[in-house]
Amino acid sequence: MSNGLLSGKKIAIFGVANKRSIAYSIAKALAREGASLALSYQGERLKDTVQEFADELGATYVAPCDVTDEAELTAFFSGLKDEFGSLDCLVHSVAFALKDDLRGRYIDISREGSKIAHDVSADSLRVLAQAAEPMMNEGGSIMTLTYLGSTFAFPNYNVMGPAKASLEATVRYLAYDLGEKKIRVNAISAPPVKTLAARTISGLSEMLAAYEDKAPLGLQDVDSVADVAVFLASDLSRSITAETLICDGGYSRMGL
Ligand SMILES: NC(=O)c1ccc[n+]([C@@H]2O[C@H](COP(=O)([O-])OP(=O)(O)OC[C@H]3O[C@@H](n4cnc5c(N)ncnc54)[C@H](O)[C@@H]3O)[C@@H](O)[C@H]2O)c1
Repeated sequence: MSNGLLSGKKIAIFGVANKRSIAYSIAKALAREGASLALSYQGERLKDTVQEFADELGATYVAPCDVTDEAELTAFFSGLKDEFGSLDCLVHSVAFALKDDLRGRYIDISREGSKIAHDVSADSLRVLAQAAEPMMNEGGSIMTLTYLGSTFAFPNYNVMGPAKASLEATVRYLAYDLGEKKIRVNAISAPPVKTLAARTISGLSEMLAAYEDKAPLGLQDVDSVADVAVFLASDLSRSITAETLICDGGYSRMGL
């Protein structure tokens, strides 16, 4: 059900790959609430799929943006400025680590693997915020997706744990910098969701079962995460910045 919470808001979303992507559920929820959307995609192979989603959701701007590619970043934001003029919200739902670095022992991963995970999964938030800042409106909102592996050690989550810790610290530093312009920066800490990225983590089914078993509200679905994104994109969350909102049905607050 739509409450029109985001009518008139212009929002750019990074991280839609397929129907299972958290970013796709977020895009659907933001569109439902009346937002105008821009979608990025990583590489030609995702172009047609993301264009289909854009058609379905009425997104008027679709362009490639690999966060490690300076030329694509510049072109994306230049086209976005032409299309939207200004921006109210940016959703960062991007992460990557080499498959071998999401199994076995963390201590054994390569320096290259560690660099890639941190660059794509954490520093890219700063990079996107830097590119978006000149066109962001006062009262704007930037959000990212994180996981509890930032704070607690989970078997196999490995390199993504320190990357998420860095991402959450990035949120706080960006919030400090952009507070002056009344731009808020927050993270949503989501429960495990069966997506392409999550499926590369060895032992995902055990994680899902643990949440179902231990969380007071049970395992939460992706639409509950998307509704928190609506809240963070809307003016209802105007006093919240530099936060990590944990939306895990209470899992992280339980002992046994
Ligand atoms: N699925 C979960 O269990 C879970 C839980 C908590 C947090 N998260 C986080 O949610 C976010 C979205 O992941 P997801 O689970 O929806 O998986 P996903 O695979 O659908 O999304 C990951 C996205 O990152 C993009 N990406 C990777 N490298 C990129 C690059 N160099 N440039 C641009 N884009 C790039 C991919 O194209 C993809 O769209 C990630 O930050 C992830 O860590 C996921």
